[in-house]
Amino acid sequence: MTSTFTIAIDGPAGAGKGTLARRLADHYRLNLLDTGLTYRAVAYALIQHALPLDNVSAAETAARQVDLAKLDRAVLSAHSVGEAASKIAVYPTVRRILVEKQREFAKTPPGAVLDGRDIGTVVCPDADIKLYVTASADVRAKRRLAEIESIGGTANFTEILADIVRRDERDMGRADSPLKPAADAHLLDTSEMAIEAAFLAAMAVIDDVLAKRNKA
Ligand code: DC
Repeated sequence: MTSTFTIAIDGPAGAGKGTLARRLADHYRLNLLDTGLTYRAVAYALIQHALPLDNVSAAETAARQVDLAKLDRAVLSAHSVGEAASKIAVYPTVRRILVEKQREFAKTPPGAVLDGRDIGTVVCPDADIKLYVTASADVRAKRRLAEIESIGGTANFTEILADIVRRDERDMGRADSPLKPAADAHLLDTSEMAIEAAFLAAMAVIDDVLAKRNKA
């Protein structure tokens, strides 16, 4: 039997879980799936066809057509697509279709790092490691502003903060699979932690689990 290793990373937008997921997938040589891109792909398809975001049957069709091998981060990374993704992510039937694909991905050897909102709670409740990466809304807004300014853009801090708070409320407040830490998740608050420190802290947790596994 081929065994797989799964690392589940959840947390709110802008907490640094994407960067952490990439670093961990590289380090442990695991496959990587940013599950946010799957919700973004559905939202993007609706936007492209000028369909309203509450057209659930169109969203279901778009979800069935999502190909995990063809998720285009450059196209899907627009802020407006993230907002729209958060809106279509409330529909249970859409979630079920995407979660099925995400689970298949996780089962592919040698295993995977998946990041999102419901990985430890719903997608991979049996994950070997669960991390919940968070940071204060204020810090996340400052990081986002710095990111925008670093590429020559301009933005308003108060608006970014309001946006982040609204997105958190939607992702944490929905009835189906709301964002929350799994009971057995390790919490990583990156408010006052650089990504390198978060990576080292995550590695310590993972290496500990691996060492215990090798001894058993
Ligand atoms: O991580 P992100 O910003 O790319 O995610 C966009 C939206 O997709 C997020 O606001 C909520 C939704 N999402 C979700 O509901 N469940 C996931 N596992 C990942 C993302």
